[in-house]
Order: sequence, then C-alpha cells, then structure tokens
Amino acid sequence: MGSKKRKRERATTHPRNKYSDNPPDFSLLASKYSTFAPYVFYSGDGRPRIDWTDFNATRELTRVLLHHDHGLNWWIPDGQLCPTVPNRSNYIHWIEDLLSSDIIPKVQADRNTAKGFDIGTGTNCIYPLLGASLLGWKFVGSDFTDVALEWAEKNVKSNPHISELIEVRRVKMENPASSSEELNDEPGKYGQCTDADFNNGKAVVIGPSPPAHLQMPSGIGKGYGGPPILVGVVKDGEKFDFCMCNPPFFETIEEAGLNPKTSCGGTVQEMVCPGGESAFITRIIEDSVQLRQSFRWYTSMVGRKANLKVLISKLWEVGATIVKTTEFVQGQTCRWGLAWSFLPASKKIVPSHVAEKNNMSFMLEGLQRHQSAFDVLQSVESYFCNIGASSKLDSASFKVDVTLSAEQCNTILKTQTQIGTDQDILISANCPSDQLNDMHLCVSVFQQIPGTLLVKGLLLQKEIPVPGVFSVIFQQLQEDLKSKFSKGIR
Ligand SMILES: C[S@@+](CC[C@H](N)C(=O)[O-])C[C@H]1O[C@@H](n2cnc3c(N)ncnc32)[C@H](O)[C@@H]1O
Repeated sequence: MGSKKRKRERATTHPRNKYSDNPPDFSLLASKYSTFAPYVFYSGDGRPRIDWTDFNATRELTRVLLHHDHGLNWWIPDGQLCPTVPNRSNYIHWIEDLLSSDIIPKVQADRNTAKGFDIGTGTNCIYPLLGASLLGWKFVGSDFTDVALEWAEKNVKSNPHISELIEVRRVKMENPASSSEELNDEPGKYGQCTDADFNNGKAVVIGPSPPAHLQMPSGIGKGYGGPPILVGVVKDGEKFDFCMCNPPFFETIEEAGLNPKTSCGGTVQEMVCPGGESAFITRIIEDSVQLRQSFRWYTSMVGRKANLKVLISKLWEVGATIVKTTEFVQGQTCRWGLAWSFLPASKKIVPSHVAEKNNMSFMLEGLQRHQSAFDVLQSVESYFCNIGASSKLDSASFKVDVTLSAEQCNTILKTQTQIGTDQDILISANCPSDQLNDMHLCVSVFQQIPGTLLVKGLLLQKEIPVPGVFSVIFQQLQEDLKSKFSKGIR
C-alpha cells in the first residue's frame, strides 16, 4: 500500500476501530488459521499479501478476522456480498459516537442496552454481529430475500453468546411482482459487483412515485418500488436508538460495474434496487417522517456525494432537527454516513472550545491585485443581505454592522453542510426558533501584507441563548469569503 493511501486511510479510520493502528496481520493469521494460509503470499518487499480479486481469499480473511478479533463464527455462500471488517467497524463506531453525544437527549430505547435496526442485514449480518459483540447492542436485522434470511439466521445461531441480542426479521413484500421476483436471481447470473466501487450512476426513474409532498425537489429519489423498508416492518410501539443501512447503491447491475482490483461478491439482490440509493434512502426519509421519534437516530450510508447534498436538503424540508454526516474511506472509494433525528436538538451545537467565543478572526490570503479590502467588505455585506439580514457597510471605519433575526440565524445553520471527518463537530442544526433571538455582530477588515487581510468578527451582545451560533455563522462567512477570494488556498 502506498504511503499516501495509508495516510488517507489512517486519517479516516475511526480512532476506536481495532484496526486503526493495527491493520490485519496476514502472517499471524496464516500461522494461526491453516485455512487462511494458502491465500497468503509474500511480495518482493517481503510483505504478506492476499489476492483481493479472489472471492475465496477475501471471504476467508473476513471469516478469520471475525473469529480472531471478535470471537465470532461466520460464513456466507459463494457470490454473496462479503463485508470488510475494518470498514464495517467504522460505521458501528460512528453510531456509538452519535449515541454518546449530547446533541439530542440521551434516553435510550431500552434503558441499559442500545437497540438498533439494520436495514438489509444481508447473508453476512455483519452489523448486528459486530454491534452485539463489540458493544453489547441489541439488533433487529431485516431483509427480504430467502438466502439473506437463512444465512443471517445461521450466522446468529452460530454465535450463542450473542444470539439472544439479535432478531432476524423478514420483510414481507407489499407487491411481490414489483421487485423481489425481478431481482430474485442466481448469484452471478448478472455478474458480480464489488462492495467498494461507486461509479457515476444514471438517473433512470422506474416505478411509482412517492406522494407529491414527499418528492425530491431535484427529481432524484423518485421511483422506489421495492419492499417496505421501515414502515410496515417496525412493529407498533417499538422504539429504537438508531437504524443503519448499507443500501443497494445501484439502479442496474451494469451501473455497479466490476472493480478489477477487489472481489467482495455481491448479487443483484444485494446491490441493485429500482431508483438506486437515492430512491432507497429517500424512502427511509419518508418512513422516518412517519415514524419520527420511534428512532433517536436514523442513519444510512450514501455512495455518491451528489446524492448526499440532495438528501440533506430533503431532510431539512421534512423537518429533521439535526443532520450530521461523516466520510468513510473504503480502499479507493469514499462513502458518506448520513444521520438525522426528529428529537429536539440540545442547546450545545458546537464543541465547547468554540461555543463560548464572542470574537473570532481569520486570515484571508491569496487576494488578487485588483481585489481590495473594500471588495471583501462589500462581499460581507452582500453575504448577509442575501439571506435577508440587515447589513450596513461603514466605509469610514472599514466595518459591516449586521443584525440577524432568529429565522436568518437558522437559515445559516441549516445550510452549513461542511462534510468533514471530525467526529465531534455537529455540522448543522435546526434550532427551534424560540431558542434563538436576534443577533448583532460587527465584521471588520484589516490590511496585513499585500494580498492578505485579517477579518475579525465581534458579537455585540453578551446573552446568547444558544451557545455557538455566532461561531457557526462566522465560520460560514469564512468559507464563503475564502471560496471567493482565496481560490486554490485552503
Ligand atoms: C448492500 S447489501 C448490505 C448487506 C449488509 N448489510 C452489508 O453491509 O454487507 C443490501 C441488502 O439490503 C437488502 N434489501 C434490499 N431491499 C430491502 C428492504 N426493503 N428491506 C430490507 N432489506 C432490503 C438486500 O437483500 C441486501 O441484503
């Protein structure tokens, strides 16, 4: 593995992930597991390797890792989607962070043990197995194909120490002709596709549309015609702390393509659904609007960044109180984690080290010769005017005075969709308007050296009911000015 790639993976591996500092040791595993040894060979530099294009090798690696590091017995039939343990662990730890954060109230569905719902648990049942063994969580794992249900059950029963914690639940088709039969095919008939390959999808819309009030503004997300996802599967009165989902990402198996570098299996039933991931996740959002506080957190993986942005807008539209994202790097590709809730956001919306600040500043570098401090001030004024705030440029003292209403503060908070790997920073919050009030601030600009300005923000009032709003707003202004004046400099 190149050092650049190693650095990138380390940077995005969750710090509590068992493998963040200790990647799997193939030599050690080969010495302990005779069934794994035949798949290990040594390259010129003496490092032990496996052939990632060999499904049997990747499946055996997953089996021995689950056994060696997690005490789990596990198997899947040929051609089914084979999970990579380090990657799947990242999602589990991210959920652990969500559950332990105080962004929303901490009351759990079951007082002592967190309870999760794994949408589409697959034959591998990986999330319930990892969540139960690592953290003692309870799970319902749902699926609709016979093979997934049969093997998920087998995998649970092979682990009696945690089997009480996991229920495998059959999703019954509303309209069996619409998808299961179409998709119910022999593994491999359509070719296999990989777990970690996300090529650009085509936006073909198939099947009935959701009700008009729930349709995606951009037109994506129409056309999920598959089996029920949450509504109709979650029982009356059931409460969960979270749901999670590694959705079928593609609209067609051709779109999934073949990644020649890895072979993690994956049948058409596992990888494809009408409308692709945007339709699938849109349906989860629609279901969450009905089920609301039956779940503390709704979460899903998202394969394409373009879909992520549209899904976030959709979530604000339907009234989510919190939206949070993270980035998962998996080999060559990125996926994103998307989480939302309908519980009232707690007041703390940014980490405490920035929450209390009432003055902030940043350097604006890389200004072109023709761009002056006055241009920057005008940009500050129009940034706030554009969201309807009162914003007045004082050219004598080189400052802009701004007054934002509670509603305008919220507009800025909701558009804060910075997608980073920082696990602790909440990226957006829909604060109830009664928790916010008008905000007065002043932005000044000071010339430093040619091409560089110092931009200072000062909060002009002492009492702010929601700590951190000023910091978030000032950071948003910073992003906006940097995108206009510091192109190419981060
Ligand atoms: C990409 S696979 C994920 C399997 C496993 N969770 C993992 O991460 O490897 C997607 C799974 O979702 C299942 N699925 C598709 N639609 C579903 C639905 N409406 N309800 C439950 N499962 C569904 C598929 O059968 C498949 O097993």
